[in-house]
Amino acid sequence: MNVKIAKEAGFCFGVKRAMKMAWDKLEQNEDGIYALGPLIHNKQAVSKYEEKGLVTKENIEDIPNSKNMIIRSHGVGEKVYIDAQKKDITIVDTTCPFVKKIHKIVKEYSTKGYEIIVIGDSKHPEVIGINGWCSNSAIIIKTIDDLDNIILESSKKYCVVAQTTINSELYLKIIDKIAKMTSDIIFNNTICSATKVRQQAARQLSKEVDCMIVIGGTHSSNTQKLVNICKEFVETFAIETKDDLDTESLKKYETIGVTAGASTPDWIIGDVITFIKNL
Ligand code: F3S
Repeated sequence: MNVKIAKEAGFCFGVKRAMKMAWDKLEQNEDGIYALGPLIHNKQAVSKYEEKGLVTKENIEDIPNSKNMIIRSHGVGEKVYIDAQKKDITIVDTTCPFVKKIHKIVKEYSTKGYEIIVIGDSKHPEVIGINGWCSNSAIIIKTIDDLDNIILESSKKYCVVAQTTINSELYLKIIDKIAKMTSDIIFNNTICSATKVRQQAARQLSKEVDCMIVIGGTHSSNTQKLVNICKEFVETFAIETKDDLDTESLKKYETIGVTAGASTPDWIIGDVITFIKNL
């Protein structure tokens, strides 16, 4: 049985970096290391970090004064930094540099008097964080229809940014419509290519193998998207860990492809590959 792994699978650069920074901090064995919100949406990974001493809290109010607080790769709004300072909390800032760049744009342009428009999902932590760099005043647009309920005034200046993981076709459609609504506007295409690259790699590999295994959380939307892409070409199995593998079904395939969602750690991918190779 041959196993082929997609060229891009699992953690993107930003999540890999964030998880390493958090792990390195835990390795220092200091007392009281907190994460503001779950580090990633992968329960196995979060448990591993919590076993090592990490304590996850949803709100900064619940983190005791003078402790360490990890800001996850999604980033947070400016107020969190101010509150941390007031509480003498040491920040371990693992915000992805691509998200940091958006914070800078939003802060700079809102200070200059621009209205901020974020193309993204208002409930996503990354967008909540971005909005926190313009006093939560951003206009947030998730679908093209949202623009029907918005009036852009010709007397105002606008600055547009995008959530890093949104679909680029949707982004293009939305900015095309916005450009027709007003003239004093600056567009910043802040979409990160990691998701697209992972999807392209999954599509490519699906064409070369007899079946695909997609590893990732059952509730992870990017994992589900990978499953749907692979299904277009071959039979596809969605699993969270090696324990979910249907070994009998797999035995009939000669070449098996493996990919993984953005929140799947390398060690889970490695476990699955070793398991299949030993079948
Ligand atoms: Fe990942 Fe950062 Fe892009 S977290 S998806 S590399 S914006």
